[in-house]
This record gives sequence, structure tokens and C-alpha cells, in this order.
Amino acid sequence: MKGIVLAGGTGSRLYPSTRSISKHLFPVYDKPMFYYPLSVLMTAGIREVLVVSNPDGLPLIQRVLGDGSALGMDIRYAVQTEPRGIAEALVIGRDHISGHRSALVLGDNMFHGEGLDGHLNRAASSTSGCTLFGCKVSDPRSYAVAGFGEGGAFTSLEEKPAAPKSDYAVAGLYFYDQDVVDIAMEVEPSGRGELEITDVNRAYLERGRAEFVTMANEVMWLDLGTEESLLEGGRYVSTMARDSGVRVACLEEIALRMGFIGVEECHRLGAEMANSPYGEYVMEAARRAAGLQQGAGV
Ligand code: DAU
Repeated sequence: MKGIVLAGGTGSRLYPSTRSISKHLFPVYDKPMFYYPLSVLMTAGIREVLVVSNPDGLPLIQRVLGDGSALGMDIRYAVQTEPRGIAEALVIGRDHISGHRSALVLGDNMFHGEGLDGHLNRAASSTSGCTLFGCKVSDPRSYAVAGFGEGGAFTSLEEKPAAPKSDYAVAGLYFYDQDVVDIAMEVEPSGRGELEITDVNRAYLERGRAEFVTMANEVMWLDLGTEESLLEGGRYVSTMARDSGVRVACLEEIALRMGFIGVEECHRLGAEMANSPYGEYVMEAARRAAGLQQGAGV
């Protein structure tokens, strides 16, 4: 399975902060924003990832992640020259995902919590159609919104409706089968001039091949694209670190847990950042894993 992180766009909702730097590089407490969506793909077991971003943002992300080999991954890059819509990521990334199942995650979406791993495992092992994730929100009007018919059947999808048919927003994480490139290539620009991901997802729905999964209540989902949610995300990550000792979206720890890298590599990555609490945490994660392996007689 292949992955795409889409981290371009204008970031105009965060002006003036995004006038000179992509929001995806902004720190959300202890790490850049794009770590959070990338961590979701990694947790789903995806090692081959294409990062799509604008011409300014892409080299900065590339400077951090390189070719991904330090994390036991294969990370490639592609430019989106203009923000022509989320679905364009599937067109730009067609060579990367063609012939494979794929997952697309938006660069400003953050997911964490109990139950997330189970959701990701199930979506990653589903072999046909698409899987969409819904979260209950108090004001769904700034998202894609799902509608339901008799017996709770998933019947409609609308992008940013003025009169939402439910409280279920569609999160920015989509799992697709091999048909998605053909479907995305057919999408026409919407009234606001964008290639809408909701049109791709609606095409699956109309073929009876879209599954809508309601995220467990314990899963925290945030679109970090507004000043308030950016702060809220940072607060969540800092509270988790302080109260539970867990660093959300620690890529090195996830790579270790997923078996992408071994304890020595993980420790080395932490040592490169030894001056920061994050680096210390990575080294500690490696030491803990080494201890567990010894305890298990490995
Ligand atoms: O967060 C979930 C929502 O994300 C979904 O419910 C909506 O269906 C979906 O359209 C999207 O809505 P947003 O209004 O939040 O999209 P936004 O323009 O903020 O873009 C989301 C991410 O994708 C952000 O990281 C920027 C990136 N992006 C967006 C566009 C339109 C690009 O890289 N290129 C683009 O052309």
C-alpha cells in the first residue's frame, strides 16, 4: 500500500503567519505539523510515501525527511504548482499509486487516541472501494459532511454545506483501492475552482463502494488549519507528554514499533537531537525497546 501526504495550499486562514512559510512546518508543540499526518500513514503500515507540497514548502519538508531511509521508509516528493484542489494530489501522485491501494492524508490533520490503530489496520486491509472516516463535530459546515438514510445507511456527501445533513464531518484521511486514479482523473473543477476530494469520494459512494467509518469517541481529530485549532493541537500534545509521558506522532518511535528500524537506529536518531526533550524521548524509547527485547530473551 502507498501513501500520499498533501501539504501544500495557501494557508490563507493563518495569514500573516503563513505569508513566508508553509503552515505544515509550524511547530505543533514539539514537532512540525506534517509529522502528525505522516505518523498516521506509518501507523497504518505504509512505508512508501509521496509528499506533495507547493514549490516553497516542498524543499523544507524534504530537508527534514530526506529520502526517508533513516526511518526505514521510502519518501518521495512532488510539487503542486498551484492549489488546484485536494483531489489533484491523486493526479500528481498517479505514478506513485497506480496499481496499488493507497491512503491520502491531509497535511494539517491530526489524529490520536485509543482505537486509532484498529481503525487504520482495518482500512489498510480492506481490498476494495474506499474508506472514509467521520467524526462528530459541533459545527460541520467547514467540512465535507455525510448524510444517512434509513437504518443509518451512508447515502450522501456534501462539501461545506450551508445546511449540513448530519453532525458527521469527513476527516482528511482516505483509503482507496486501485481505481482511484481513474476516478480522480475524471473530476472537474467545482464552483470554487478546485478538484474536490469529495467528488472522488462521492463517485465511490454512487458505485456503492464507499465505507463510512465513525471514529471511536476516544480518537481525537483536529484540522490544524485555524489559529484556534493550531493552539488546541499544541495543548493536546503537551498535555499528553506531561500527563501520560507519551509524545504524539513521534516518527522515530513509530518506525521502531512498526519494525521499520531497529533499536540502534532509533537510538542514533534520538542522539542526533539529544539536546531536546524530544531527542531524549526517542533515545528512551530505544532503550525501553532494547530492555524489552532482552527481557524476552531476544
Ligand atoms: O480537514 C478535513 C476537511 O479537509 C474535509 O472535511 C474536507 O472535505 C476537505 O475539503 C478539507 O477541507 P479544508 O477546507 O480543511 O481544506 P484545506 O483547503 O484547508 O486543505 C486541506 C489540506 O490540504 C491543507 O493541509 C492544505 C492542503 N491542500 C489543499 C488544497 C486545496 C493542498 O496541498 N493543495 C490544495 O490544492
